[in-house]
Amino acid sequence: MALETLERARQEFLAALAEAGSDPARVEAVRVRFAGRRSGMLRDLEEALKSLPREEKPAYGKALNDLKKLIEESLTAAQRVAEDPGKRREAVDVTLPGRMPVVGAYHPVTLVRREIEEIFLRMGYSVADGPEAEDDWHNFEALNFPPDHPARDSQDTFFLKGGLLLRTHTSPVQIRTMEETPPPIRVIIPGRVYRCDSDLRHSPMFHQVEGLVVDEGISFSHLKATLEAFVHVLFDPRLKVRFRPSFFPFTEPSAEVDITCVLCLGKGCPMCSGTGWIEILGAGMVDPRVLRACKLDPERYSGFAFGCGLDRVALLKYGLPDLRLLFGGDERLLRQFEGVKR
Ligand code: PHE
Repeated sequence: MALETLERARQEFLAALAEAGSDPARVEAVRVRFAGRRSGMLRDLEEALKSLPREEKPAYGKALNDLKKLIEESLTAAQRVAEDPGKRREAVDVTLPGRMPVVGAYHPVTLVRREIEEIFLRMGYSVADGPEAEDDWHNFEALNFPPDHPARDSQDTFFLKGGLLLRTHTSPVQIRTMEETPPPIRVIIPGRVYRCDSDLRHSPMFHQVEGLVVDEGISFSHLKATLEAFVHVLFDPRLKVRFRPSFFPFTEPSAEVDITCVLCLGKGCPMCSGTGWIEILGAGMVDPRVLRACKLDPERYSGFAFGCGLDRVALLKYGLPDLRLLFGGDERLLRQFEGVKR
């Protein structure tokens, strides 16, 4: 306790002296306040020594002496500068080590988002986005989730006042794009999405990136080739890509897409639960009902779409073990990305 009082006094003194600068009257006021013979703080602190229990005296005495020395030396130096205007200019101590400016770093999710954007920009796509507070039409209805359809349950939606909701996926931007631009369409759509779900592997806010291509004569083989090229550039040209039949209301046929485990290259490891494969994407051919909802003629146009979790890709790409690391704001993680540019 007593030592803390000394520490507080030390900080108070340093702050007061710094504030006094090289103004002689103010330096003198600091001297009187802290080192004045009759009522200075040092005197009170010395007085306090007497009433301390025996065993605390040595430590307190030593700290008090240090403080006294600091105060005396700092005051002498400050007085010298204050008295001699010529010295004021020398008050900058050029021998002090410099202060390193803190350099910011891109968040790993931003790095991965930009890398994915670049890959698709090179393939002739453009980047699109849409609102995070979405309406039912774009998030569900136009994507062929009818009202009361059980597939809506899988989305764990956050509903907002006034009829809007937080988009549960980036797919509503597919609809917005098709409503606004005539084919040919080639867009990549990164963004935040929200689901009422939180545990070791899920965060209520996470990131997805969506792809959409609509034109005449687009087929499933275009989808396969595109995703293969994407995975090879993003991760490793040795990876295999595997399509498993799946279901999404807005694509038909639909697939879940696995890649060879990026850690063990297919041998089997804890990351891929020994299977050698990791699921990274949902994809499929745009359902004709979705095209029709966007006033496009499914007899003339076809398209493919895919969606993937950006956060998981960031974990895989940078070998991070836990999704929560991405949203914890721990500077020790972020500093490791200093200087990484995209
Ligand atoms: N929107 C789907 C999801 O969030 C992913 C997806 C996108 C699937 C596009 C197919 C096509 O799970």
